[in-house]
Amino acid sequence: MRLRIQSFEKDLNVPKGTNLLSALASAGIHLRNECGGVGRCGKCRVLCADGLTPPNESEMKIIGAKNIQKGVRLACQSKVLKSTEVHIPQTSMERRIKILVEGSLKELKLNPSVKKKEIRISSQSLKRDLSWEAIRSQMGSKNRLESYPTLHFLKQLSENGNIKEGRLSCILMSQRCLDMEKGAGTGYHLYGMAFDIGTTTIVGYLHDLTSGNQLSLSAIMNPQTKFGGDVVSRILHATSAPNGLRELQDAVIGALNEIIQEVSKKTGILNKQIYEICAVGNTTMHHLLLGLCPSNLTHFPYTPTIREAFSFPAKEIGVSIHPDGQFYLLPLISGFMGSDTVGVVLSTGLHKSKHVNLAIDIGTNGEIVLGNCDRMVAASCAAGPAFEGGQIQYGMPGTSGAIDGMAIDSRGQIRIHTIDGLPPLGICGSGLVDAISEMIRERMINQDGRLLNKEEIGNRNLASRMIRTDSQEAFLLYQEKGNRNQGQNILITQKDVRQLQLAKSAIWAGIQILAGTIGIPLMEINEVFLAGAFGNYVKPESAIHIGLLPYFKKTKITPVGNAAGSGAKMALLSLKKREEANRIAQKIEYIELAKHSDFQNEYIKGMAFPLLKRDGSHSL
Ligand code: FES
Repeated sequence: MRLRIQSFEKDLNVPKGTNLLSALASAGIHLRNECGGVGRCGKCRVLCADGLTPPNESEMKIIGAKNIQKGVRLACQSKVLKSTEVHIPQTSMERRIKILVEGSLKELKLNPSVKKKEIRISSQSLKRDLSWEAIRSQMGSKNRLESYPTLHFLKQLSENGNIKEGRLSCILMSQRCLDMEKGAGTGYHLYGMAFDIGTTTIVGYLHDLTSGNQLSLSAIMNPQTKFGGDVVSRILHATSAPNGLRELQDAVIGALNEIIQEVSKKTGILNKQIYEICAVGNTTMHHLLLGLCPSNLTHFPYTPTIREAFSFPAKEIGVSIHPDGQFYLLPLISGFMGSDTVGVVLSTGLHKSKHVNLAIDIGTNGEIVLGNCDRMVAASCAAGPAFEGGQIQYGMPGTSGAIDGMAIDSRGQIRIHTIDGLPPLGICGSGLVDAISEMIRERMINQDGRLLNKEEIGNRNLASRMIRTDSQEAFLLYQEKGNRNQGQNILITQKDVRQLQLAKSAIWAGIQILAGTIGIPLMEINEVFLAGAFGNYVKPESAIHIGLLPYFKKTKITPVGNAAGSGAKMALLSLKKREEANRIAQKIEYIELAKHSDFQNEYIKGMAFPLLKRDGSHSL
């Protein structure tokens, strides 16, 4: 069958019965597929009038009969029956996420696990030819006793065994000799990489281990996304698809190697000069990277196969660095809380402060830690994907063209801001929070989250933007000029408001329960660290206004960027920080929210939008 892809002016020949999403992907046309192609997310929409299998139940439910009549279809649910033409709207194309890579790396004393030891060889010190025993005896008492070589080291040594005098540089990792070079080793540099392996994105940082400096970084979308947008769908794929676990492991390892290649190309540093990798990630990402079956994570008591920090040769999983390079994974907290949260605590210093601080990392899930040097409690909140634009009708990730900010002026005119200043394509999490906050302020949404209709809204400009569509109220956030009834208008619907309420009440309930567990009034929290992309870009006042965050009168709210990635860097550069990370993972008390007796109450309470008082405080 011949498929004409209008938007790309491309023709594809595919066998009858081919799934449309796969056919497009095989031609390099990647559509958004946040649900992994199971017909749940509705992001893979295409326009195709005929030639496909009849719409199935998922399509009827997600797209609606009216749109199907107009030719809208879900590519993942359609198979090609006849030669036809397909149009792909911009909003369905996979886009590169604007990945948050920056985070603060507080001053730390450099003490990596990889070190260089220079040895002086003199003819007197050598009774015979150079050997491992001769090198070990030259190492000095501190290194001598426990050190032992790798085979790679011995091979190098055998090739240089005729040295009678001069200097040798040995590369040691945890007292193990990995490599050597003739001379004082001034040209011999040691490099390491830190990785933050997220469900949606993966970021890698290249560091010089002799100076601690960051030399380069690279970030890409986690290619596992094609098997599902969240950890639940990935676990499902790993445990039920034939070869599913292997596919997921290969995808993430491929991504790590791609990042290593990229930083190597940018800096001219060879893979074999990278001696160690330190990584953080949630528990599912950790298991999938190691190729561990994640089935334990699906049922009580949700025990990870290993919780402690774990180090192994990188080549065992096919990561291309030095042949004896090591891969170090920071410890996990629980089945629901991974080493990414340990990284957030480590880099914010929450575990060392006398004051009680709160760290919130909102990604595909929401992780919250509250505490100080005496006690730390944590919870994972099933906030769902709304803060990343998922399950929102015109939602999209924080990529170019996403509306990421919105304000309503005194005349009821709308001002919107988009990422990279491009024409709006959809709305991302921070834009949605801003928009809902403004709509509450303009009394377009009541406390229960009901979107008021035209007649109920006082301001005429704003009332004129209210429309009724698919049996629900919707607010016309953006209207493409001259395109009132079709195309890329962007709406906020009643269902979107409900999705946001569900997401924010999960975070709200988490904060309340943790504060109750520690026994601290919210007003006494000293500082709030907002980690991750959403936390970095959302306006704190909007987050407070919609009741995502409680009202803090004096509390400082600090965006901390990719704090999980900063934690991985600290562990790469300092053995002391690794010990701290181990203590953090042991010390954090994980609270299972769903089992907490107050959870239902707090969750329901958190659904409401607060009434704002004059002093900026609110009623929730
Ligand atoms: S609905 Fe098609 S990929 Fe999600």
